[in-house]
Amino acid sequence: MASGIDFALLRDHLATVSSRFDVDWLPECDSTNTQLLARATTGAAAGLVLGAERQTAGRGRRGRRWHASPDCSLTFSLLWRLPVGTPLHGLSLAVGVAIAQGLATLGCDAIQLKWPNDIWLNGAKLGGVLVETAAQGGLVIGIGLNLRRDPAWQADVDQAFAALEDALPALPTREATLAAILCALAEVLDCFADAGFAPLREAWCARNALLGQTISVSSENMQERGICGQVSAEGALILNRPGQPELLINHGDVSLTRVQS
Ligand code: BTN
Repeated sequence: MASGIDFALLRDHLATVSSRFDVDWLPECDSTNTQLLARATTGAAAGLVLGAERQTAGRGRRGRRWHASPDCSLTFSLLWRLPVGTPLHGLSLAVGVAIAQGLATLGCDAIQLKWPNDIWLNGAKLGGVLVETAAQGGLVIGIGLNLRRDPAWQADVDQAFAALEDALPALPTREATLAAILCALAEVLDCFADAGFAPLREAWCARNALLGQTISVSSENMQERGICGQVSAEGALILNRPGQPELLINHGDVSLTRVQS
């Protein structure tokens, strides 16, 4: 049964990057993203990680609710600051790369990424990323991951979901899982600060969950159907439409669904 985080154990797992993070863990809050956005306004430092056992108003992309349960999920947000002027295109994709690389160090090499911010395993959603801009040039990077299957989710969640336990013979501790992701995030965010998404593009493309599949992309102003291509160096998704020029989807606020053919 999950209850809190063992900070000493987490520090051991974080090893050399431990000094870059300051971790706070709450039994309950509305949303760790919302709480970190508030802390950013009062000058919280980069590297602050806020986790919660339970969120009463967890937020997903496009105004959706994020469901998680204390025993089955890892739910946290990280406050980060990039050098002033760093273009933010592709940041949530870069975070996906870090999560995949972090989980690979735990033996789970099967993570796939669905543009722009879903973490997939075995063709179903394992987790999600919600990046929001915060006060004083900050960024709040919220991450929710399913560790174990909670039968209650099936009734609540409108899509197939996966859990990390599906991919590993034994589930690592939450401290090991959190540390693996934070270590990978430190490296990926340093790389992003230096050169943006471009050097991370190949790693994202290698895990592109929907490559070559027929997808439908829609937002308030558009509805397009085509074959899912790779992403550009700026993190835009390339949609291939027979007989038409390829379309670059930049807008983060789109819905992207696989079309069964
Ligand atoms: C999505 O897939 O739509 C993004 C989900 C992001 C959920 C995480 S859980 C921690 C952080 N706090 C929130 O309220 N949301 C993010």
